Amino acid sequence: MSAHWTSEPAGPISGRLRVPGDKSISHRALLLGAIARGRTEIDGFLPGQDCLATLAAVRALGVRVEQPSGDRVLVDGVGLQGLQPPAGPLDMGNSGTAIRLLAGLLAGQRFDSVLTGDESLRRRPMERLAEPLRLMGAVIDTRAGCAPLTIHGGRRLHGIDYRLPVASAQVKSAILLAGLYASGETRVREPAVTRDHTERMLLQFGAPLARSDRSAGIRGGGELSAAEVQVPGDFSSAAFFLLAATVTPGSDLLIERVGLNPTRTGLLEILRRMGADIETETLPAPPGGEPVGNLRVRHARLRGIDVPAALVPLAIDEFPVVFVAAALADGVTTIRGAEELRHKESDRIAVVLRGLRALGVAAEERPDGAVIRGGRLAAGRVDSAGDHRVAMAFAAASAVAGGPLEIADTANVATSFPNFLDLASAAGLRLAAAASAVDD
Ligand code: S3P
Repeated sequence: MSAHWTSEPAGPISGRLRVPGDKSISHRALLLGAIARGRTEIDGFLPGQDCLATLAAVRALGVRVEQPSGDRVLVDGVGLQGLQPPAGPLDMGNSGTAIRLLAGLLAGQRFDSVLTGDESLRRRPMERLAEPLRLMGAVIDTRAGCAPLTIHGGRRLHGIDYRLPVASAQVKSAILLAGLYASGETRVREPAVTRDHTERMLLQFGAPLARSDRSAGIRGGGELSAAEVQVPGDFSSAAFFLLAATVTPGSDLLIERVGLNPTRTGLLEILRRMGADIETETLPAPPGGEPVGNLRVRHARLRGIDVPAALVPLAIDEFPVVFVAAALADGVTTIRGAEELRHKESDRIAVVLRGLRALGVAAEERPDGAVIRGGRLAAGRVDSAGDHRVAMAFAAASAVAGGPLEIADTANVATSFPNFLDLASAAGLRLAAAASAVDD
C-alpha cells in the first residue's frame, strides 16, 4: 500500500493560516535542550516524523522528554557529559538533519553509537560530515560513504579550523556540536552563507560562540544552560502556500507567524523577481532571536528569470517550489549552481523535472539545475519519489492545472508537514488522500 493524492482544479486560495513549527529549529531545540543543564521548554515544536525521530533518539540517550501536547515539549537536560549509551542503533528515518547533527553530538561521547535511517537517508552522502569529525579526532565508519554510521566513543576531540567544501548547514552544525566536546577552539568557514539557527541557538543557550560574516568558532569544555524556545512557523512549509496563492487567480492569503530568518528566505527574493506580490510584516522577535512575521500573498502573473546562483543556499529547500513556479511563468527560467539538490530526500532536479514533463512542460535538466519554459500544467500523474517537498510543490499548483492530478508516493509529507492536506483544503485547494494497493 502506498499513499497518493488526487486533486481537482480550484478557485482562489484565501483566508489566514498558520503553518506548523520550523523543522530545523525543532531538531536543534531538542538536541541543545538534551545537553544543557536544566529544563528547556519548547513551544511551537513540529510534531512531524523527522523531529519525532530526534525526540526518540534523545530519549534513547537517557534524557527525559515530555510532550504534554503535539507542539509543546519539555526536555530535562542532562548536561554536556550526561548522555547515556543507547540500547541499540538510533533510527533517524528520513531526516538528514537528525542524522548529521546527532553524529556531531555523538562524536565526542565516551560510548559507541550507531546511526541509521530509511532507504532514502542511507543513500545520502555522509563523508562530508565524517571527514571533518575525523580531523577532530573522532572515529567514524560509514558504509561506502553512507549510513549506517558507527561512531566509536571515548576519543579525545580537538578543535580544528575547517573550510567547508560544500555550503551545508547540517555539516557546519555537526562540527560546532562536536566542538562543544573538543579542546581549544573549533572554527567552521563556509563558502556561502547557510541557515544559522545553530549559531543563534547556541548563543541563546550560553555557549561561547563567536561569529563573523561566514565563519563561526566555538570553545569546548563549558556548559549550556536550558532556555525557552518559541519555534516560529516553518518558512519552508509556508513556501507551498506562497506558490499556491501566487499562481491561482483571485487569491489573497495571510500566513501568520512565519520564521523570517534571512538565511532561509531566498524564495521571497526569487518569487518577487518573478513578479510575485508578497508583503512581509515583521513582528517582535520571541526569545532566541529568530525573526518572525506575517506574509500576505496575492495572485500575480509570474515571468521567467535567471535565478541568481547566490540565492541557492538561501532557498535550498524551496527549489521544488521554484521549478513549479517556473513552469507556470511567462518565458524561460534558468536555474544553475544547484547541484546540491541531487543529494536531498530525492534527486530533486531529476524528480521534479520528470513530474513537470509528465504534465506537458518543456523542461531541460542540467547537471546543476534546469531550464524551464513556462506554460501550463496539464492533467496527469506525478511520482514524488517519496519526497515530501516534491509532493507538496505539485499539490500547491494543482488549482490551476488543466484537470485532475494524481500525486503518487506522498506518505513522507508527514515528515515535515503532518496537517498539510487539512490546511491546503481550508485555504481552497481541492486535494484528497487515497491509498492505493498498487506499488507506486
Ligand atoms: C538543514 C539544512 C539543509 C536543508 C535541510 C535542513 C538544517 O541541508 O536542506 O532540509 O536544518 O540544517 P544542508 O545543510 O545539507 O544543505
